[in-house]
Amino acid sequence: MPLLIRNARILTLAGPTGPRRGKALGDLGLIPQGDVLVADGKIAAVGPKVELPAGAEIIEAQGRVLMPGFVDCHTHACWAGDRLAEWEMKLNGLPYLEILKKGGGIHATVKAVREATQKQLAANLRARLTLMLRDGTTTVEVKSGYGLTTEAELKMLRAIRRAAGDWAGTVVATALLGHAFEGDPDEYARMVVKEMLPEVSKEFPDIPIDAFCEEGAWSLEACVRLFEKAAKHHPFRVHADQFTSRGMIPEAIRLFARSVDHLEAATKADLTALAKSQTMGVILPCTGFHTDGRYTRAGFFVDAGGAVALATNCNPGSSPTHSMPFAIALAVRFCGLSISEAIVAATVNAAAVLGLSDRGTIEAGKRADLILLGHKDERLLAYELGGNPVDTVICGGARVS
Ligand code: NIG
Repeated sequence: MPLLIRNARILTLAGPTGPRRGKALGDLGLIPQGDVLVADGKIAAVGPKVELPAGAEIIEAQGRVLMPGFVDCHTHACWAGDRLAEWEMKLNGLPYLEILKKGGGIHATVKAVREATQKQLAANLRARLTLMLRDGTTTVEVKSGYGLTTEAELKMLRAIRRAAGDWAGTVVATALLGHAFEGDPDEYARMVVKEMLPEVSKEFPDIPIDAFCEEGAWSLEACVRLFEKAAKHHPFRVHADQFTSRGMIPEAIRLFARSVDHLEAATKADLTALAKSQTMGVILPCTGFHTDGRYTRAGFFVDAGGAVALATNCNPGSSPTHSMPFAIALAVRFCGLSISEAIVAATVNAAAVLGLSDRGTIEAGKRADLILLGHKDERLLAYELGGNPVDTVICGGARVS
């Protein structure tokens, strides 16, 4: 049955395909009062007045904001166990990298993930996906990376696939093969490149590959070796310059990485070079909020012409939240994005990071992933803290909440 959303303040974000930068980054494509018709899972028509087809279901928006569903393009939402004990250590002053060095942090979650069955991991993820959808996330990227052995990484990727199958939204899996290491770092990286990558490629042929370039995690050289091999068949992304700047940004640009994520410690020179490249920058402000109060200078990156996307980084260690509205609220307070830029970064630009051009805007022919806010002014999306501004979620053309 067709669905007509009537009398909405529509943020269409209509524009050219691909990531927005410069002036286009702040353009919401506003229709102050209009209608959107949804049919067969897609947007059939949008404009100030759309004719009501016979038998259509109607949602009266009464002037409230209708916008594309959020695309959360960077999460580690598939995990088991918790990190509450280490969080208390962190509250008492022990930094994230120190906990990692002591064998905690990511390694604590690796232990719990290895002990969990594929079914349990899928159930944990499914519960988180349900919460995400309620808060307006209709597409989410989920990484592996807490397995560290070939078998455990494949178990995670299969669990992600299984949970995705039951969800109304879209899950994009990423193989985070270079998240941490066990034993000798060089030997471990060699094993990943020689053994793990081919096994993952066999079962998940075009899955994006990811690594964490950081002190105590993967070295620049190991990341480059992994990406040079992976790039033959896979897109790839990299966590870089989260705590320390290790030269990954120029290499990511040289190798045509799809995105560099984090960037809290990036130099202005590296941010400028990234801004001028085709590689996108993904900012994760919930991480700074939870760990150490450091945020990416996204305003500088955007002024230099960068294509920015925004994500929650939902994970048990550095960012225990799935809320895109919260990420938006932080991005405008601490990263230098305007409200409009944060909305574009959380929708159409985030979709571009995932290689998806069929969503993130409200245009005829696009996938009907839409959210109707409880508010008549989109600025409240960034202004309010800790609540859920999303009233109705339409996913793939169906009303899901
Ligand atoms: O992006 N930095 C690496 N990975 C995650 C943290 C994962 C964890 O601590 O479990 C991040 O912050």
